[in-house]
Amino acid sequence: MPKFGTPYNVLKSDKKLTNEELVRSIRFNIAAEYEAIQFYEEVIECTDNELVKTVLKDISDEERVHAGELLKLLVTLDPEEKKYYADGAKEVEEMMKEI
Ligand SMILES: [Fe+2]
Repeated sequence: MPKFGTPYNVLKSDKKLTNEELVRSIRFNIAAEYEAIQFYEEVIECTDNELVKTVLKDISDEERVHAGELLKLLVTLDPEEKKYYADGAKEVEEMMKEI
């Protein structure tokens, strides 16, 4: 499990999360969605039970939707984040041209 600090350590108080704290929390939530996808796919690969495979595939796909929702929320809360992703995509596109 990735470590991103403790974004929830203030949730038991009356203090509301700042935008920065929300951003850190959403990043953690995105990581949790990807971790869940990985876990479900590992189980799918390790069983011949078709019912289990079907249900876990459905859940895994739902986690991808959650990841998409959270990514949209993240770039809405922190528009700078989107620029970094765009820069990363451009870098890969350049590498693809060289291959
Ligand atoms: Fe989820």
